[in-house]
Amino acid sequence: MAQQEYKLLGEQLFTYKGQVFPVADAYELNTEYIDSLEHFEIKDSDVFLVTFPKSGTVWTQRIITLLFEDDFPEEANQTTFMRMPWLEVLEKGKTYTERPSPRLFCSHLHQQLMPKGLQKKRAKVIYVTRNPKDILVSYFHFSKFMKNLDSPEHYDEMLDKFFCGWMIGGCWFDHVRGWYNNQDKYNILFLSYEEMIKDLRSVVERLAEFVGKSLSDAAIDSIVEKVTFNNMKKDDKANYDFLHEIVNDKKKGKFLRKGTIGDWKNSLTVAQSDRFDQVYQERMKDLPLTFVWDITELLIQTHSGGSSLYGS
Ligand code: A3P
Repeated sequence: MAQQEYKLLGEQLFTYKGQVFPVADAYELNTEYIDSLEHFEIKDSDVFLVTFPKSGTVWTQRIITLLFEDDFPEEANQTTFMRMPWLEVLEKGKTYTERPSPRLFCSHLHQQLMPKGLQKKRAKVIYVTRNPKDILVSYFHFSKFMKNLDSPEHYDEMLDKFFCGWMIGGCWFDHVRGWYNNQDKYNILFLSYEEMIKDLRSVVERLAEFVGKSLSDAAIDSIVEKVTFNNMKKDDKANYDFLHEIVNDKKKGKFLRKGTIGDWKNSLTVAQSDRFDQVYQERMKDLPLTFVWDITELLIQTHSGGSSLYGS
């Protein structure tokens, strides 16, 4: 979806400059604010977590807030949403410029919409990917329990939406391509959801090193323990159960749903999966990216000594 201009997509979403946003009156989610982000002043100590929705954002967000917990002891009881807000989701009347450093932000923005100051390479960007079939299935469920999202009736409709980018974040293919092709401009760490499932501890260690946190083994252990799926599900500062019932129907689902690789196999038919593969091949063939599509692949990798989630 390459259109540049503002356009409503149904009643719940709008598109602008190739990105898709929710219509949210309580926030500065409008074209002026989005345009202003190009000049958002960056500090060297800023940390940005960027993802396409449903790629493992709140999981990585929790890890990062725990890595920085000592910097903000007085905020230990705040939700991760407060401690590491979304850059593009600014509450009306608020500003991010006065946040104490190091400022931590999440974002679902496409590369071309992010603050240009990030390209001076001092602040840090962490980009998390996930195999897109699991993203699609996760989003399908997400759209059922988020009251402010159109929810597709069935997976054929979800596939149509995924291919044309009619969902929060817009087009997954463009998102990943933009960040992958422009990675040299940033001080960026690429991670994947599947790596986190495979070896959470080593991902926490890599994250700690990247953001410049030298933690003891015990401190790393403690973070790993807190962010396992089962523990995070109970962590009311991080599990997003705190979302207000105006936006979230708790009876219909949760942010922390399955937490695994390959759940798409339980949802997509063979024909739907084949349809996905065909579009995927066409649109991704020139990118040297590989994904883990099923949990069993991790066992094979482990036994054969491991392989990169990214092509060389
Ligand atoms: P599923 O719906 O497949 O279970 P995001 O935060 O980008 O919206 O991504 C949500 C996905 O991350 C959900 O996937 C959710 O279950 C998964 N997730 C969140 N926390 C997790 C954790 N601690 N361990 C494993 N998966 C987690």
